[in-house]
Amino acid sequence: MNKTIKKVSNLNGTITVPGDKSISHRAVMLGALSKGTSHITGFLNGDDCLSTISCFRQMGIEIETDGRNVTVHGKGLHGLKKPDNILDVGNSGTTLRLMTGILSAQNFMCGVTGDSSIQKRPMDRVIAPLSLMGADISGTSKNGKLCAPLTITGKKLRSIEYMLPVASAQVKSAVILAGLYAEGDTTVVEPEPTRDHTEIMLNCLGADISRTGNKIICRPVKELYAADISVPADISSAAYFITAGIICPESCITIKNVGINPTRTGILDVYGQMGADIVLSNEKTVCGERTADITVKTSQLKGTVIGGGIIPRLIDEIPVIAAAACFASGRTIIKDAQELKVKETNRIKTVVEELSKMGADIQETDDGMVINPAGNLKGAVCESHSDHRIAMSTAVAGLMASGETVIYGAECVDISFPGFFELLDSLH
Ligand code: S3P
Repeated sequence: MNKTIKKVSNLNGTITVPGDKSISHRAVMLGALSKGTSHITGFLNGDDCLSTISCFRQMGIEIETDGRNVTVHGKGLHGLKKPDNILDVGNSGTTLRLMTGILSAQNFMCGVTGDSSIQKRPMDRVIAPLSLMGADISGTSKNGKLCAPLTITGKKLRSIEYMLPVASAQVKSAVILAGLYAEGDTTVVEPEPTRDHTEIMLNCLGADISRTGNKIICRPVKELYAADISVPADISSAAYFITAGIICPESCITIKNVGINPTRTGILDVYGQMGADIVLSNEKTVCGERTADITVKTSQLKGTVIGGGIIPRLIDEIPVIAAAACFASGRTIIKDAQELKVKETNRIKTVVEELSKMGADIQETDDGMVINPAGNLKGAVCESHSDHRIAMSTAVAGLMASGETVIYGAECVDISFPGFFELLDSLH
């Protein structure tokens, strides 16, 4: 599908964006491993989370869904059954990496694969720690990396103390999930704090996970117990509307009930530092996760430097932050963000390529990008590269570009944000 975006004169309204992708995946996986029935509300009915549902159904878990509400009939830590076919995670790295941790400890062997993008993404990062725990995983060698398809043969696992070489919540979560089955305490040390939804949700379900500094300790438990889970709106999806409300003229947008877990709010800190008018209200804590309504207004941003420990707290938002930086006064430097190269696409390359087509003054660096004020952007014919975050970031830049911007392959927004373009249209 191609989508045409036109320059807007203002954007105004109060909206709700879909549920958090990271939390929705975990709710299905942990619901499946709990004893009893979990009711999930606010679930993200996007392609990635539907891949997680499909994989767990194939492992014998009964799951009912009407979209936003999902009921998972959990079978306990030892209730999964061998799937009849190879599991397919589609485009979802979170499904693949977290499930690999779980599958390492089951009493069966199975294969896991995904789409062409997933088959290029590095799996060494989970295979290494899980192998130290005694897991039996074979991957497919590609350009010196181990990738999906994987074959995983469940084993009795031992506990380890593991220092993550890269700050990755997916790897941390894979080790913690395997640690649920290991004898003894499993410890993960992260170089920088990464999203902690796995730890929060596991503790709500009866696990014993504690944290001291950057060290997370997972103690074995006999069972997890089902609970009702309310999924907040995804700050990574809200990010497109936060950015649009800031860069477009005469705009004011409120986004309701957004997850503001501090491991995810780097974008709010950066925009605050750049001079944006952002107000949080109606703060609550639900199922251990903080939420708030976020109101943004048109603001003149100034350039900044983004790097170091904040990167894991905004890694998925960098493409849209790069779009915003085109409209800032002064230079913005994004560094320490090499991880962007191993996302759904190499997001350093794809962001620079697409924003350059619109006349942005943006250069690729080895660990990020440098963006100078561009004056006005102009509409162009752009490409999503089948990467949902590139499609939506390009669309946000297009709102401020003269003429029309066409995005080829725009249907990939369904991975994390079904209804994105309709919601955008509703604001002008
Ligand atoms: C995620 C972790 C991050 C993030 C991804 C979702 C998660 O990936 O980019 O979109 O749900 O744990 P990494 O763990 O590879 O940094």
